[in-house]
Amino acid sequence: MDLLMRSVFEDMRDLKHALQGDSLSSIDMEFVAKYKNWDHAKTTNPNHRDKGFDAYADFWVKRMEEMQVAPTLDNYKATVNSCIQCHQAYCPGPLVRIKKLTL
Ligand code: HEC
Repeated sequence: MDLLMRSVFEDMRDLKHALQGDSLSSIDMEFVAKYKNWDHAKTTNPNHRDKGFDAYADFWVKRMEEMQVAPTLDNYKATVNSCIQCHQAYCPGPLVRIKKLTL
């Protein structure tokens, strides 16, 4: 899951730059598909998996899907907020990095 998280972080950073630079058309929103089955990615810490975690995960995947259909600023922000919500509850360490994604 570490690898997946690093990869989603990079994809989101590219998207942020595209939104800022008005070059959205250069982003292939298909990247979202890579993460839809992310549930199967094993977390390094099994304590991270419980019902609450899955609820955050589902919520996040839905935001990602909405953003894929309509890559607007609002949908981007909603997706980043869903990253932050799960991280506040389960994995606060990377929050500093994730907050760099906020616009
Ligand atoms: C449902 C919970 C959840 C969501 C949603 C989530 N994460 Fe994570 N993330 C984790 C957990 C848990 C870890 C710790 C790694 C592990 O346990 O395997 C992590 C780790 C990370 C890391 C550190 C990886 C490393 O280098 O070790 C980054 C960066 C990260 N997430 C970014 C994001 C971004 C960006 C998003 C949204 C696009 C996001 N995360 C959405 C749970 C989540």
